[in-house]
Amino acid sequence: MERQKIIESIKDIVKKQLMGEGTGHDWWHTLRVYNMAKNMATQEKANMFIVEISALIHDLYDWKFYGEEGQIRKTGKLLNEFIEDEKEIEIIMDIIMNISFKGGTASAKQNTLEGKIVQDADRLDALGAIGIGRAFAYGGHKNREMYNPNMAPMKYSNLEEYKNSKGHTINHFYEKLLLLKDKMNTQTGKKMAKERHEFMENFLEQFYKEWDGEK
Ligand code: ADP
Ligand code: NI
Repeated sequence: MERQKIIESIKDIVKKQLMGEGTGHDWWHTLRVYNMAKNMATQEKANMFIVEISALIHDLYDWKFYGEEGQIRKTGKLLNEFIEDEKEIEIIMDIIMNISFKGGTASAKQNTLEGKIVQDADRLDALGAIGIGRAFAYGGHKNREMYNPNMAPMKYSNLEEYKNSKGHTINHFYEKLLLLKDKMNTQTGKKMAKERHEFMENFLEQFYKEWDGEK
């Protein structure tokens, strides 16, 4: 199958599966990551096909829902349907399996430029205006308070604890979002993360002022 056709077919599959998903991994997140990763791939002169496919399927069979084994099996099956080159499949699998920042306990390392780009693009979508929106959407989904000044910032020691924790959403900025800028892989990613990071700091400053009735 022609490369562009493969991309379009996989895009359709992902769109059908993730459209309307409510936990911050919906189709629009994937589309943003895909577009961002493509831009970065041009700037960083990476293999565009690998970047495009990896970005499209990076949240398709999330290990949080399918387990790691399920994610490997289902992702492998999909790739084998469309791609003949075993080496390419191997590279994409490696990217997908190493992509997420697993609750802050492990920092997944990417072995290829293409993986670094997709991981940066995914992280960028947790930052800035979109990142703030996603954080509060996620918090609402989990019935969490937006903020609670009586609740001390929390640290989680393991993934289960993290997933089930009852923190407030502002805490998530300190637990994860404000740490991401120092984890970026590429120069392009670092620059964009810095801007989005500053935007979030301004947001928090304004948030606390409004909270205290000062502004
Ligand atoms: P990943 O993209 O690495 O799989 P997650 O599934 O942890 O990330 O997060 C998806 C989105 O939900 C991100 O925008 C993230 O900031 C947000 N999110 C995750 N955990 C929380 C939380 N405890 N509070 C608020 N937002 C969260
Ligand atoms: Ni993602």
